[in-house]
Amino acid sequence: MNDKEAVLEALKVVQDPDLHKDIVTLGFIKDLAACAGVVKFKIELTTPACPVKEQLKQQAYDAVMAIEGVTTVNIEMTAQVKSSLPVGNKLGGDIKHVIAVTSGKGGVGKSTCAVNLAAALSATGAKVGILDADVYGPNIPVMLGIHRKPEGRGKKLFPIKAHGIKTMSVGYMIEDGQPVMWRGPMLHRALQQFLQDVEWGELDYLIVDMPPGTGDAQLSLAQLVPLTGMVVVTTPQEVSQTDVRRAIGMAEQVKTTILGVIENMAGEIFGEGGGKTISEKFDIPFLGSIPLQADIRKCGDSGVPLVIENAESNVAKIFADMAGKVAAEISKIQATSLPVLEV
Ligand SMILES: Nc1ncnc2c1ncn2[C@@H]1O[C@H](COP(=O)(O)OP(=O)(O)O)[C@@H](O)[C@H]1O
Ligand SMILES: [Mg+2]
Repeated sequence: MNDKEAVLEALKVVQDPDLHKDIVTLGFIKDLAACAGVVKFKIELTTPACPVKEQLKQQAYDAVMAIEGVTTVNIEMTAQVKSSLPVGNKLGGDIKHVIAVTSGKGGVGKSTCAVNLAAALSATGAKVGILDADVYGPNIPVMLGIHRKPEGRGKKLFPIKAHGIKTMSVGYMIEDGQPVMWRGPMLHRALQQFLQDVEWGELDYLIVDMPPGTGDAQLSLAQLVPLTGMVVVTTPQEVSQTDVRRAIGMAEQVKTTILGVIENMAGEIFGEGGGKTISEKFDIPFLGSIPLQADIRKCGDSGVPLVIENAESNVAKIFADMAGKVAAEISKIQATSLPVLEV
């Protein structure tokens, strides 16, 4: 057995806890070099937001260090998000995954969760975009502090980048405070344009901030976009209500996976635990609970998401954890179509 083979053999003890296979079989080991006791390789994960990145690195290090004669192990962690979208999809740009953030009703913090989740994913090094599909009440321009109009060339529109995140919103097209009235076909056409005529470029994750409720716009969007999955936002007390059930019912109707549920505004006023109950009842992952906290709203109003404004805060850590869970769920879905490589 040569040095490289010995290293690969040793690395087979390292299991990806989400994909339930070892990192050699999964084809994660790249650029392996082994010479005179010095071993170098890359571990290429399926998402930079992998929640067990450090753990995998440490296990791989220990496994290779234990080989007789090895003195130095140098591991570089990289990631390549792979798409599960059908080839030839009509989206503008190379978008790997589209994630809708939904809720049964408005005002539960869907936009707040969408921007902070996007910021948390972006902080891991992922390429992230937000599509504001809430055509009736676009919040993304204010929440990301954008007061410009997007540039266009011919039929093409260019997204506006803020805090490292590419965005598109009807809010960019209308005057401040003007009511937006959409008739059914116009709405469908606008969403279609945002998905197909916007030069998104390369994106690992496109987060779609959905309009509230479970009406025409949601169905139209879900039919228009090949969604990888949906994230459902609820307030803690909603457990006794039918809104969340409707959101979940809609996901089932359009055959979309629910990546998880976020409980928002937890605390003394609305209580807590509703998100967890829903997750258990419907057997969907619980992503975490965000407290009702004044600085979350202040950051939303000021145009800098809390995750960016105060990256060390408890809330930022909860969002980072959620981003890891969402990315891991997506990796699991994607893994079913991942070719298993023989190294
Ligand atoms: N956890 C929270 N703590 C305090 N304020 C919040 C929280 N989540 C959202 N908000 C505020 O509540 C309002 C509604 O949130 P928003 O994200 O716009 O909801 P939606 O998009 O579901 O309508 C906004 O003013 C927002 O800043
Ligand atoms: Mg909103």
